[in-house]
Amino acid sequence: MTRAETAVDIHDLIAERRSPRSLDETAEISKEDLLGILEAARWAPSANNLQPWRLIAGKRGDSNFTALFDCLVPFNQSWSKRAAAFVAIAGTPTQPDGTAIPTFMYDCGLAAAQLTIEAHHRGYVVHQMAGFDHEKAAPLFNGATPIVIMAIGKQAPAEQLEGPAFDREVAPRVRKALSEIVIAGLPD
Ligand SMILES: Cc1cc2nc3c(=O)[nH]c(=O)nc-3n(C[C@H](O)[C@H](O)[C@H](O)COP(=O)(O)O)c2cc1C
Repeated sequence: MTRAETAVDIHDLIAERRSPRSLDETAEISKEDLLGILEAARWAPSANNLQPWRLIAGKRGDSNFTALFDCLVPFNQSWSKRAAAFVAIAGTPTQPDGTAIPTFMYDCGLAAAQLTIEAHHRGYVVHQMAGFDHEKAAPLFNGATPIVIMAIGKQAPAEQLEGPAFDREVAPRVRKALSEIVIAGLPD
């Protein structure tokens, strides 16, 4: 597992996490692990504890996996077909009485982040995808707003990819400097 070149030493779970596209098509996810990563999403914080996230999980070959796969743009289909599972997150923008939940996407992002870290801890990789047909996915979620489909699997060697997918897999991982994103209060 390669670590990101962090400016400060941080936890392995964060420094080692990345979003590979080269996935092992023979790898499967156990019921226990899938339940564990869904549980991690469940325990995310949310504004007023409204928990606006709604999730759909599918294992490769089952009907949920196929329904989510069919929504992906062709580039994402080309590599994520080897995922062991997909988990999609949609969010409810309003409460049952119609009151808006202005933070619903933020809350759902926190659930996705927790799911991702738990999956990494269990030896899987997670790759978030916004590249899907949101209108096509909407009916799957009973009115909630589709936000992301996550491919979950085991990482495989980059060489099974080709073209832009391979190039992106072996490119150095980069981030803006702390001094660029912390616009005030960065310790000396
Ligand atoms: C909301 C969101 C949507 C993304 N959508 C896609 C996508 O549709 N296809 C894709 O290949 N990668 C997608 N990514 C992955 C990002 O490109 C990736 O997280 C970013 O380049 C940083 O790489 P890292 O996660 O390995 O650090 C998405 C990531 C996020 C957070």
